[in-house]
Amino acid sequence: MAEPQATAGPPLSAPAWRPGDARADADSMLRVDQAGEYGATRIYAGQLAVLGDHHPAAALVSRMAAQERRHLAHFDAMLAERGVRPTLLQPFWRVAGHTLGAATALLSPQAAMACTAAVEDEIDAHYSEQLEALGESDPPLSAAIADFQADEREHRDAAIEAGAEDSFGYPILYAAIRAGCRVAIELSKRI
Ligand SMILES: [Fe+2]
Ligand SMILES: [Fe+2]
Repeated sequence: MAEPQATAGPPLSAPAWRPGDARADADSMLRVDQAGEYGATRIYAGQLAVLGDHHPAAALVSRMAAQERRHLAHFDAMLAERGVRPTLLQPFWRVAGHTLGAATALLSPQAAMACTAAVEDEIDAHYSEQLEALGESDPPLSAAIADFQADEREHRDAAIEAGAEDSFGYPILYAAIRAGCRVAIELSKRI
């Protein structure tokens, strides 16, 4: 059996912990990031379940889905290495992510792209906030976030290119999905 590839890339372990440092914050960041990447894999799986393999948009969505799986595998490995528990909301995100992906793909392929644009913009902003908050305190986590953030920006640009803004009711759809992502982020930090 092949060895899992999850640990490719930057190192996983946390810097040595000292009382009073920001370690607890980094644990919470890792928890919410793993939840977000998990949700992203579920959204794209939901979209692909509706679009099928032969739809013109499927190749793009499949490529983004593969990148989300890489992000998730890395954060899964970091959680395990650091002994941080995942969010208790994971079963909920499993269903919510898939439903969001499937529902937007059912509306139209452009609505599926609008979903991607909204989710990726929110994740991009979230990752920027985290990088600023982390500073130099946790280089392995910062390296992973910066690496994945570059992919998320590409996903957003690809979704716009593929017609996200042509979807029916784009401003409302976009705003609603971003607001939903913000709620998901806040819940996953805490629960
Ligand atoms: Fe991602
Ligand atoms: Fe993404």
